Amino acid sequence: MNSLQFDRHRRLRQSDSMRKLVRETRLHKEDLIYPIFVVEGEKVKEEVSSMPGVYHLSLDNLKAEIEEVSSLGIQSVIMFGVPNHKDDVGSEAYADNGIVQRAIAQIKETHPHLTVIADTCLCQYTDHGHCGVIKDGMVENDESLKLLAETAVSQAKAGADIIAPSNMMDGFVAAIRQRLDEEGFEQIPIMSYSVKYASAFYGPFRDAAGSAPQFGDRKTYQMDPANRLEALREAESDIAEGADFLMVKPAMSFMDIIRELKDRFPYPIVAYNVSGEYSMIKAAVQNGWFDEKEIVLEMLTGLKRAGADLIMTYHSKDVARWLDEK
Ligand code: PBG
Repeated sequence: MNSLQFDRHRRLRQSDSMRKLVRETRLHKEDLIYPIFVVEGEKVKEEVSSMPGVYHLSLDNLKAEIEEVSSLGIQSVIMFGVPNHKDDVGSEAYADNGIVQRAIAQIKETHPHLTVIADTCLCQYTDHGHCGVIKDGMVENDESLKLLAETAVSQAKAGADIIAPSNMMDGFVAAIRQRLDEEGFEQIPIMSYSVKYASAFYGPFRDAAGSAPQFGDRKTYQMDPANRLEALREAESDIAEGADFLMVKPAMSFMDIIRELKDRFPYPIVAYNVSGEYSMIKAAVQNGWFDEKEIVLEMLTGLKRAGADLIMTYHSKDVARWLDEK
């Protein structure tokens, strides 16, 4: 035995305090962005069936939700609107009194210090469920940009602190930056869904937002999950167009992309831990297959270790509670 040569890695793992001393990655409440779905009407608090713990909230019930989020120490939310009225050009997306515009204004009135991010897209608002306008059966890029930019301006007018465009049209950051600047919103940052894959993990979200495409799929604008170099080109374009944050979405199947963006581009990197990733864990937890706290903290810590500075996650409220326990 005396002649054996090896390193004693276990020295640094021998107690909880020793492990804490050498821990390389930590989750903070400041890292979390909590997604919220708002709907028209009154007294609505309906659980999304495929996303236990996530609700459709009418504006009266939004108050309590924001109180809770804020008292838990979460600093940022991202807002999704689910309108009553849909049409082929998604008019409610850029209506000054649209559901998400009213929600944003309400939050900023009661909680001015909460960072309110607006998801900027058309798919929840169009009757065909695509993220842009349709011409000859195709999603038309440049026409869609105009409507997207109008949506961003209406959200900024309502008080949004950050615009997060997710429709994956080419030039969407440039179009939004230009319109925001024209309207005097030079100070509003753009958190671009730069690298957004055409993913099966959005299924539960499309239930929640009623935004499944009525024909075809999103593969002519969202990215092929097989591609890495294309992700770098997308990120480069968005930076050139004026993005302030870069997002990778979904998170868990694309941790290599998160790491690569973090290493290559000196910008805050956001990982979107999407609906399907949440639902998968919730379903397994409901079956008693693993410990929710342990598995969620492992997953989110892994995303940070991969290079995410911020994480959009439906688990945010639970995580904030668990961080308080420690
Ligand atoms: C809108 C949008 C989607 C998500 C966020 N913004 C859905 C989609 O592209 O179909 C998905 C979020 C999630 O799954 O949690 N385009």
